[in-house]
Amino acid sequence: MRAYKINGGKKLEGTISAQSSKNSVLSMLAGAILTDDTVVIKNCPKISDVINMCKILSSLGASVEFDDNDLIINASQVNSFCVDEKLCKKIRTSIYFLGSLLGRFGRAKLCFPGGCNIGARPIDIHIKALSELGVKFDYNEKNISCSKQKTVGDREVVFSFPSVGATINLLLFSVINEGTLVIKNCAREPEVVDFCNFLNSMGAKIVGAGQSEITVYGVKQLHGTKYRPISDRMEIGTFIFATYCCGGKVNITNVNLKNSDLLLDKISNNTCSVAYINDIITITSNNIGEGFDVQTGPFPQFPTDLQAQATVYLSICNGRSIVIESMYENRFSHLNGLKQMGADVHVFKNVAFIQGVKRLQGAKVFANDLRGGAALTIAGLCARGQTLMCGVEHVERGYLDYDKKLAMLGASIKTIDL
Ligand code: EPZ
Repeated sequence: MRAYKINGGKKLEGTISAQSSKNSVLSMLAGAILTDDTVVIKNCPKISDVINMCKILSSLGASVEFDDNDLIINASQVNSFCVDEKLCKKIRTSIYFLGSLLGRFGRAKLCFPGGCNIGARPIDIHIKALSELGVKFDYNEKNISCSKQKTVGDREVVFSFPSVGATINLLLFSVINEGTLVIKNCAREPEVVDFCNFLNSMGAKIVGAGQSEITVYGVKQLHGTKYRPISDRMEIGTFIFATYCCGGKVNITNVNLKNSDLLLDKISNNTCSVAYINDIITITSNNIGEGFDVQTGPFPQFPTDLQAQATVYLSICNGRSIVIESMYENRFSHLNGLKQMGADVHVFKNVAFIQGVKRLQGAKVFANDLRGGAALTIAGLCARGQTLMCGVEHVERGYLDYDKKLAMLGASIKTIDL
């Protein structure tokens, strides 16, 4: 196991560059098999979730290679609609090959996906919608095998919940088609908008991205593209909360996001400021502010992927805060480590009651998932004394050079083998 060894108490000062969005890039990797032309994803982060999706693409017969930071994919030799079971189980987004293999071959065979253990994460919304569109499923508790009728005419589906993954899968399934598909109550996340822009750059005809209703006008085929994904708003939000907790002034350059993507009104507070001008985000934190309440939900509500980082900040804010995690039933596991570091937190079902304390104490803590690991690292950065944050592999699924970027900002952090 590898750990971050952190000596807390340093301010964060300096400049780092934003990575491209993990959650945008992962959907684009699945989308690349919808054309025999070459697809280039510019400034693609070499994080382990991307590497694992690339392994699935290669196992299907695609050529995949990095040219510096650009990822070049050609799926003209893709000759299988069966996804390797071991690779499937490594990540949540292997489920995107359900939609893209159906879109390319009209058939798909894969097992249920893996991913962060933040909850049951069923795929019933995906399966219900695809079944309504004529996809025949044959599945047991382990595998999914399915096939679609020749084409789907003009149809509509209504999601029971604005699922990001189900929206992505329905887009992958329906872009190459003779009919029109209307997806109602779909996800509105910026990463979904980015994916629609990516598909449209390949010749798709998708209208309404970012709204609760998307219309896909099916086309005969897609062509290649060179596409620069949006920046990773969860990485940016993580550095915002890190700077809030440690104090200092941090610039994040090369930011490719709309102002409204960042939901700054939900993550700003009375003693810290976040300015976004041109492609630079400047975070200034003079001292610890008052606590505030958080309830996570689908975009444009507070993002669940920043909940763990926010709880660390609230654990050292003045006063009381309440955090309601509405999206996942097991996304408070980082609070065990935080309590070991002296946080005053009580959890009742999906609600965390937090009373701010003056200072956290360093401790040996364990990450259980990607965002929890990033959050416990922030706790170590602002705690008194030394922290060992164990389970770096969770963090490396979604953050490129997290420790190096923090060290560039003045943090005392390095990765060690335990
Ligand atoms: C995406 O996961 C993100 N992952 C998650 O980020 C993010 O937390 C989530 O959207 C919500 O914004 C990627 O984009 C790769 P959902 P996804 O389908 O698609 C329930 C991170 O840290 N649900 O919108 O799996 C589900 O259980 C990761 O970067 C069903 O019940 O999210 C959850 O409670 C973690 N049935 C809620 O909906 C379904 O068929 C949100 O799920 C599908 C989902």
